[in-house]
Amino acid sequence: MKRTEITDILKTPPIGTQVLVKGWVRAFRANRFISLNDGSCFNNLQCVVDFEKYDEAFLKKISFHSCVAITGKLVESQGAGQTVEIMVENIELLGACPPDQYPLQPKRMTMEYLREKAHFRMRTNTFSAVFRIRHAIAFAVHKYFNDRGYYYMNTPIITGSDAEGAGEMFQVTTLDIGNPPRTEEGEIDYKKDFFGKATNLTVSGQLQGEIAALALGKIYTFGPTFRAENSNTPRHLAEFWMIEPEVAFFDIFDNMDLAEDFVKYLINHILDNYPDDLAFLDNRIKQAEKNRKQELRRPMSLVEMLRFVVDNDFERITYTEAIRILQNSKPYKKGKFEFPVEWGKDLQSEHERYLVEKKFKKPVVVRDYPKAFKAFYMRENDGTEPGKETVAAMDILFPFIGEVIGGSQREERYDKLIERVKAQGIPEEELWWYLELRKFGGCPHAGFGLGFERMVQFITGISNIRDVIAFPRATGTAEF
Ligand code: 4AD
Ligand code: MG
Repeated sequence: MKRTEITDILKTPPIGTQVLVKGWVRAFRANRFISLNDGSCFNNLQCVVDFEKYDEAFLKKISFHSCVAITGKLVESQGAGQTVEIMVENIELLGACPPDQYPLQPKRMTMEYLREKAHFRMRTNTFSAVFRIRHAIAFAVHKYFNDRGYYYMNTPIITGSDAEGAGEMFQVTTLDIGNPPRTEEGEIDYKKDFFGKATNLTVSGQLQGEIAALALGKIYTFGPTFRAENSNTPRHLAEFWMIEPEVAFFDIFDNMDLAEDFVKYLINHILDNYPDDLAFLDNRIKQAEKNRKQELRRPMSLVEMLRFVVDNDFERITYTEAIRILQNSKPYKKGKFEFPVEWGKDLQSEHERYLVEKKFKKPVVVRDYPKAFKAFYMRENDGTEPGKETVAAMDILFPFIGEVIGGSQREERYDKLIERVKAQGIPEEELWWYLELRKFGGCPHAGFGLGFERMVQFITGISNIRDVIAFPRATGTAEF
């Protein structure tokens, strides 16, 4: 007999027919009711066992997370809680899961504990819901851009440049690091390295994405990026996925419109297609919130918060306005901010959260940041005062997670760009091709990067970013 997936059985139940299902046991109550899950959907299928037909030793093996194949007749359920169930005629044990040795238990386990058991954690309700939603968001990313005539580009993972100029790169080399070849001056001789030059894992696909945009018009990348920033926070990974659209002839305002429409589309896609997983995650948060102090509780449920984002226009302000608002805020006046609020200093997470959660109570887009602390490729705004130069950069800030998107209009003027490259001490020979884009057939263009895991985090309400990627890489963590 051919196996049927549980999602299909629950969607259009073939009542009265024989079915074969395979999956993992979520619970086995009273030696009679098996809740079976095969990952195809959130819900379990109830399988009713006539325990007199089996010996006890066998039934003992039908334990939490053991893997079984079950055949039987599908009938309308007599009990509450499910509409259909299988009257079991045969059980085959495909993989036993001895409870005395298995590290997971059918009870609440902490996320930290489950992170250490990443090879089993996807079998839990929480993680299977997260990973189904993660898949669905990735799918929606491709659908969104494909439907609008964007081309998907694969940019290189190994590069010779530092796109963000922040120096947070993982080096890639085949040299013997204990005894590397040296030049006459005693420097490491990268000419002898695999690529004949020093290389690293990419921090962003943007620079190559710009090449494509200046030929195909509208493109996007969606790939892994790597940052060796030593930030042990619930929002940072060393290996994360980024979506980077890049569009010829776009200015910073077109860019903001695209970004807002795009993130709303992703959230709507999940609201429309994954109600069961969302309802479970929502309830999970509500339970956890009960143990928190009143003032730390979320002002709304997960689904309400997602609706709140899709139903409201994002607030758009300049960096200069943001500083003024912060300086007039209660926490600033009462000395509650840890970091200084001063024109020329970058906004910190506490400032971003104030703007989003307290002041505007909706996503906020901040633009026109000081040139001094932003990447070299961002377009300098015209007509600013000396010492107060800004660039056409924008960040989208969300409740709870802060920055989800960073983007900008790119500096398309060769002279201005070369000036920035020199001022920031970036080796021109690494970027010769990028600079030539400004000399030959260049045009105004813009783009942004969406941190994929930050988006998954927001939509699932999971508090630590390490729990929305299957096998997290972060400072001190590269297991599995
Ligand atoms: O703001 P970032 O650094 O922008 C860029 O890399 C540009 N090249 C994007 C572009 O214009 N094409 O990073 C973009 C987004 C951030 O807003 C954040 O959501 C996410 O990537 N991000 C991280 N996510 C997880 N862990 C990290 N360490 C992250 N660093 C950035
Ligand atoms: Mg950024």
